[in-house]
Amino acid sequence: MLESAIRVEHLSKTYNGKVRAVEDVSFSVMPGEAFGFLGPNGAGKTTTVSMLTAGLVPTSGRAVVDGVDVFRDPAAIKQRIGIVFQESTADPDLTGRENLELAAALFRVPRAESRPRIDSLLERLQIGDAADRLVKTYSGGMRRRLELAVGIIHAPRVLFLDEPTLGLDPQGRAGFWQYVQELRKDRGMTIFVTTHYLDEADAICERLAIIDHGRLVAMGTPSELKDRLGGDVVTVRTVRSDPEVAKVLSAVPGVVSATRQEEAYRVKAPRGEALIPLLVDACTRAGIGLTGVSLKRPSLDEVFLEFTGREFREDEGATATDRAVRIGQVREAFGRGRR
Ligand SMILES: Nc1ncnc2c1ncn2[C@@H]1O[C@H](COP(=O)(O)OP(=O)(O)O)[C@@H](O)[C@H]1O
Ligand SMILES: [Mg+2]
Repeated sequence: MLESAIRVEHLSKTYNGKVRAVEDVSFSVMPGEAFGFLGPNGAGKTTTVSMLTAGLVPTSGRAVVDGVDVFRDPAAIKQRIGIVFQESTADPDLTGRENLELAAALFRVPRAESRPRIDSLLERLQIGDAADRLVKTYSGGMRRRLELAVGIIHAPRVLFLDEPTLGLDPQGRAGFWQYVQELRKDRGMTIFVTTHYLDEADAICERLAIIDHGRLVAMGTPSELKDRLGGDVVTVRTVRSDPEVAKVLSAVPGVVSATRQEEAYRVKAPRGEALIPLLVDACTRAGIGLTGVSLKRPSLDEVFLEFTGREFREDEGATATDRAVRIGQVREAFGRGRR
């Protein structure tokens, strides 16, 4: 059997004996996979990345990265992994090339190898023209690309990215990911990325975990997670609205739920497209006139809402009671989704 690139078992971190930042987190990432870790501010993403990269000692649990026990052999881990943190780490008073040379020396990349590698990275990440300029003159996007180059100068097998595109404009974000994808294809690197941007996670990650208040609340491919919502949402607009309509819609095979919302009925189903003719048929037979039917594939934003009980970018404002109710919903959703 193929060894996992990252294997995490019951990892927990409590700061100062009281802040439970990460609680009993377990998951595996396969070699070459792009795995996303999603969660709002304070969810425990950076704490997890710090533990997996031997920067922080866990309170309990175990992690094996590229076959090495992270907490038993931190020095070996550092050679095998690359890290791009959410904060800028490049030295602004050095040139791009100097930053890369420094990193290569730190990782003891032989000079004969580092020269061509630096040139090729500068070229590929399109910072070649600015290679001999001080980093403080770089744009945000260029700086991030340089930091990506620095992070992989020693040809790591696993790359950790902690909110790498925070603060970049959409163009900068797209550019950054394009390079990550190319490097990944070339080298078969495993990618572990935390991000705030759900669209990014959806596009880049083969699998995702959602972390909330230090706990994993859902894990799967983006489409599996969306399917767990009960799948698509078909919005059915009818001429009349009475309890009979919801009953007729709910009775159609494949329907998970049909609820009245504002001026229409929201019908949830795993495969909404196939359901549309059946819904139309059922309404026609029951003498319910239709004014419109539309289909929506759920987004990761909705997945996040479903599993955490709140909007992705919404700030903490929930009362304790709200929280308790929502946690109950999350548990229920997770239990149901796990099968
Ligand atoms: N060094 C620290 N000491 C105490 N608490 C911390 C420390 N670092 C993070 N925390 C707390 O741990 C929780 C998780 O933080 P973090 O891992 O940074 O979350 P994220 O990266 O998802 O925003 C938060 O409640 C945060 O305030
Ligand atoms: Mg963070």
